[in-house]
Amino acid sequence: MVIITGTSSGIGKYLAKYYLEKGEIVVGISRKHSLEHKNYSAITCDLSDYSSIKALDLSNVITNEEIILINNAGVIGDIIPTSKCDLKHFYEVAMVNIVALQYITAHVLNISNKNQVKTIVNISSGAGRRPIASWSAYCSSKAAVDMFSLTLQEELLEQNQTTKVFSLAPGVVDTKMQNTIRKSNPNDFSSHNTFVKLKEENALNSPEATAQKIDLFINAKKDVHQVINRIT
Ligand SMILES: NC(=O)c1ccc[n+]([C@@H]2O[C@H](COP(=O)([O-])OP(=O)(O)OC[C@H]3O[C@@H](n4cnc5c(N)ncnc54)[C@H](OP(=O)(O)O)[C@@H]3O)[C@@H](O)[C@H]2O)c1
Repeated sequence: MVIITGTSSGIGKYLAKYYLEKGEIVVGISRKHSLEHKNYSAITCDLSDYSSIKALDLSNVITNEEIILINNAGVIGDIIPTSKCDLKHFYEVAMVNIVALQYITAHVLNISNKNQVKTIVNISSGAGRRPIASWSAYCSSKAAVDMFSLTLQEELLEQNQTTKVFSLAPGVVDTKMQNTIRKSNPNDFSSHNTFVKLKEENALNSPEATAQKIDLFINAKKDVHQVINRIT
């Protein structure tokens, strides 16, 4: 079975569709749901809200099958310099991109049997590995996703668990998030034109192809396990 956060749109939606088409049971976690399928369990949760995350209980939906957990939900927040950002912005980006991801990971490991979780894929970003002005909260949250993934893998190895953890940058993908980036104010965002051009020049990957590449990545035989990774 596959547990995916952020299944209402973009990469997460196409991951859910992809795995449903492969015959997997999919548990999707987001505020809205746009998929209906007999094998799809829709869990509604606001990952920016403490009480909503705390109330999350997946123990009734998991089976005894192997689990793939894909922590995909993410927000970019306001695209403005740090000095202009308000508390709500910092809070929402940190909650959705890192706090909820950490808690859901802990919860799934806690309610499953030893080694039942085969793979954990945390969707990171190139923006967590290089600074982009006006994205300070987003970049730092994704850098935190990378370090959380590295640390978690160390712990699981210490516990003799076979679970593989990956922090995966998916490349630039044609989703609502890219739309939000293009709609930002160029006066507040020095890289605005770069992202407009990516769309104009058809350089964004489709979420469908990205979902397929993520599954290929998970299944690829790797001689050396590297937590920090990207889709090429
Ligand atoms: N698109 C890119 O170029 C790109 C590049 C690098 C990394 N990424 C990463 O890829 C992941 C998916 O993004 P995307 O591009 O597919 O964007 P998207 O289309 O905007 O999808 C974001 C998903 O996250 C969910 N989400 C956001 N806030 C939430 C909240 N408070 N509670 C629950 N779910 C929430 C949304 O669901 P609801 O709104 O229904 O809650 C939605 O399903 C993100 O982690 C993003 O940082 C994207």
